[in-house]
Amino acid sequence: MKKIKRIGVLTSGGDAPGMNAAIRAVVRTAIYEGLEVVGIMRGYSGLLEKQFMTMKSHSVSKIISQGGTMLKSSRCPEFKDRKVRAVAVENMKEAGIDALVVIGGDGSFRGADLLCREFDFPVVGIPGTIDNDIYGTDFTIGFDTAINTAVSAVDKLRDTADSHNIVFFVEVMGRDAGFIALNTALATGAEATLVPEIPGDIDSLCGYLEQERRKNKTSGIVIVAEGGDLGSAVEIAAKVKEKLPNYETRVTTLGHIQRGGSPSCNDRVLAGLLGYESVKALLDGKSGVMIGQVNGYVAFTPFEEACTRHNEINKKQYEVSHILSL
Ligand code: ADP
Ligand code: F6P
Repeated sequence: MKKIKRIGVLTSGGDAPGMNAAIRAVVRTAIYEGLEVVGIMRGYSGLLEKQFMTMKSHSVSKIISQGGTMLKSSRCPEFKDRKVRAVAVENMKEAGIDALVVIGGDGSFRGADLLCREFDFPVVGIPGTIDNDIYGTDFTIGFDTAINTAVSAVDKLRDTADSHNIVFFVEVMGRDAGFIALNTALATGAEATLVPEIPGDIDSLCGYLEQERRKNKTSGIVIVAEGGDLGSAVEIAAKVKEKLPNYETRVTTLGHIQRGGSPSCNDRVLAGLLGYESVKALLDGKSGVMIGQVNGYVAFTPFEEACTRHNEINKKQYEVSHILSL
């Protein structure tokens, strides 16, 4: 295998708080190991457009506390085309890049996997997404910050819910995964939670809200994960209002505020460790793997597995959340 002298790093897919801390860790570890580092702007799009910049130690100063990603990110659908990926590899070779670190979610790892398989190009991945749905790591970078943002938003909504006797339907992100919803619900004492992994039913939701009201609860919070079988929070609230017309309801979609903001301590620490391990892994000759942390230990998971399998929500947590809100 060719000796690695220069590595590239990019962020791809949805941005997540802590991606900057991961970039910093990759750059500083690489420099410590005597490597050169090239920052690739806008994910896979930057590989195609040769948006490369040399990264020095000072290039990543003061970014550890910043949300977003200094390298910017993108969704690059054309990367699904092999010919396009061949151009990306050519561009990296032309720039003297010998190996690549991809920070992103499972979609980004699908692209990374193909670069390794088709062109024998060394690539390792770092899980960066607020969704926490990636197999091979207990937590993804950005998840902890996102749930803390959601919790503080729901706490605020609770004030208005209580003051005006309102049932709030709060939609949180997570693509097709209920991690953000479940953790937010448990941490805020939400009255009900709907997640994509567990089939929902409007009649039982209404029955449950009625039961709560009989206990003199005059307001409530229903956490709705996007991607569920009952539709969006707006649709669910409308269906509930049809069945319970006397209820005062409101809908809040938290949206992209969950993706922004200064990363939490946990996200910065995870990003630092995984960023460091990613460079060490490349130098050890590893490729085609995502670097995660499982039970406190570094874990290497083949991209294929990281893309095709998914972390499962803890259904017990769902039950506990329900019991504690009774
Ligand atoms: P995430 O990485 O957060 O899951 P996406 O699913 O949007 O985000 O994927 C990010 C990018 O990864 C896509 O825009 C595309 O460039 C690349 N990608 C996703 N799926 C594939 C695939 N099947 N083949 C090649 N590249 C892919
Ligand atoms: O993957 C991160 C995520 O924020 C998901 O939770 C959400 O479904 C999706 O990205 C939103 O994507 P976009 O920013 O393209 O609307």
